[in-house]
Amino acid sequence: MTDQLTWERVDTYFSELLVQSDPVLEMVLERAARAGMPAINVSPNQGKLLHLIARIRGARRILEVGTLAGYSTIWLARALPTGGQLISLEHEPLHAEVARQNIKAAELDDLVEIIEDNALSALDRLVAENTEPFDFIFLDADKENNAAYLERALALSRPGTVIVGDNVVRKGRVVEEGNVDADVLGTRRFIERLAGTAVLDSTAIQTVGSKGWDGFSISVVSE
Ligand code: SAH
Ligand code: DHB
Ligand code: MG
Repeated sequence: MTDQLTWERVDTYFSELLVQSDPVLEMVLERAARAGMPAINVSPNQGKLLHLIARIRGARRILEVGTLAGYSTIWLARALPTGGQLISLEHEPLHAEVARQNIKAAELDDLVEIIEDNALSALDRLVAENTEPFDFIFLDADKENNAAYLERALALSRPGTVIVGDNVVRKGRVVEEGNVDADVLGTRRFIERLAGTAVLDSTAIQTVGSKGWDGFSISVVSE
């Protein structure tokens, strides 16, 4: 019973009991599908996990790299206190537009800013502008550039900042010998950079569920 169908049944079992059904989030996914966007958002249980980590951290400022339709953005923004801020980076104009509509529908537009630009350029600008550090950073754009995103994320962090990376396993491809796809190489460089960064304490965890077999990295910047 270790197949995709069982993983999905277990995911549904947990999400039905533990993750409140939510018309706004359902509408977000419907709009994304109607706009022809890929259904690669985090799952409901994963969205709730990100939300809980941000709350446990007491995050007031959140940075997300890779918005898509704003599904994970909404989960994270709902963890913010009044006066908090979330900045999310997205280079596809259609994705950014659908995400802005969705964030408005979720009544989070006071807290959320979508920057429509290449993530590296946007991050370099945030660093150059001496932006106030973030408490929680979610890396979920192209995996090829994740080591570069991590470097900028560190410059936008302070002691205690939590950094989460999505999709570090991809059905085991991360350790597949001879696999030199750009995203796989990018993920390996990212994990090696986590390992080699003295101010970070990190681990990575495999997950199964409605999105198949994948995983997250999680790191904290030393106090
Ligand atoms: N975090 C979202 C899913 C993000 S999917 C969720 O869970 O709901 C990855 C997104 O990153 C896509 O929308 C893609 O357009 C965007 N992206 C990919 N490369 C990028 C880049 N170089 N700069 C900015 N955004 C990028
Ligand atoms: C896929 C899943 C993701 O979470 C992502 O960020 C990019 C791609 C995928 O399943 O293809
Ligand atoms: Mg992802």
